[in-house]
Amino acid sequence: MVNESKIVIVGGVPGVGKTTVINKALELAKAEKMKINTIVFGSVMIEIASELFNIQDRDKLRKLPSDKQKIIQKEAAVRVAKQSWNRLTIVDTHYTIKTRTGKYLQGIPSWVSNALKPKILVIIETNPDDISKRRSIDNSRLRDEEALDLVKEHQEINRTSATTICQKTGALLAIIKNKQDLADEAGEKLFIYLKSV
Ligand code: AP5
Repeated sequence: MVNESKIVIVGGVPGVGKTTVINKALELAKAEKMKINTIVFGSVMIEIASELFNIQDRDKLRKLPSDKQKIIQKEAAVRVAKQSWNRLTIVDTHYTIKTRTGKYLQGIPSWVSNALKPKILVIIETNPDDISKRRSIDNSRLRDEEALDLVKEHQEINRTSATTICQKTGALLAIIKNKQDLADEAGEKLFIYLKSV
């Protein structure tokens, strides 16, 4: 059997609402009895972080030294590739991760993109103001407070990263705006892209 890539990577800065948008798209898929596998890359990483470094809190992952994050990331890519083999799969992840020192770590370096061979890359974006508000009211997570110009910078860097991955892999690139209180609309767009795979 040919291993045809059916992976759609969905990323965006923390708190932009990517998990919310994915869940909206999954509701639409369920209504049409369409099977979509979803893997949260950060959850696979935390499993590995727990096995290797005794770290259990996902918000502590990005604070680890970057060498350790890369070891975890590499193993996570192998596990995610196995779990998504030949199945339409959303991989919920980050194009870049802001580390403790403010430097950006690539979320999909070559060892991740070579393992996953994504078909479509989706960036979820919205304006920095809304992201900042969403982070502040989301009590489920320990979110970093960030100046608006830095949120803007992070979103710009994500575009550059995603474009580079597309150049290397031939994946298609899509940008979805998750406007305030309009996550349904964003979910519908994502669902259309999923149906195109
Ligand atoms: P991960 O597990 O991906 O964190 P996450 O919680 O899934 O994602 P985010 O923090 O990005 O939040 P979100 O954008 O999904 O927002 P949400 O939908 O919750 O990552 C965990 C860690 O794993 C990372 O920090 C990193 O360290 C590591 N990691 C992951 N991938 C990696 C990789 N490839 N390489 C290295 N490390 C990696 O929504 C937030 C809030 O906004 C909610 O309250 C929601 O109700 C609200 N909201 C959403 N949409 C709207 C809207 N339209 N209007 C109003 N409110 C809205």
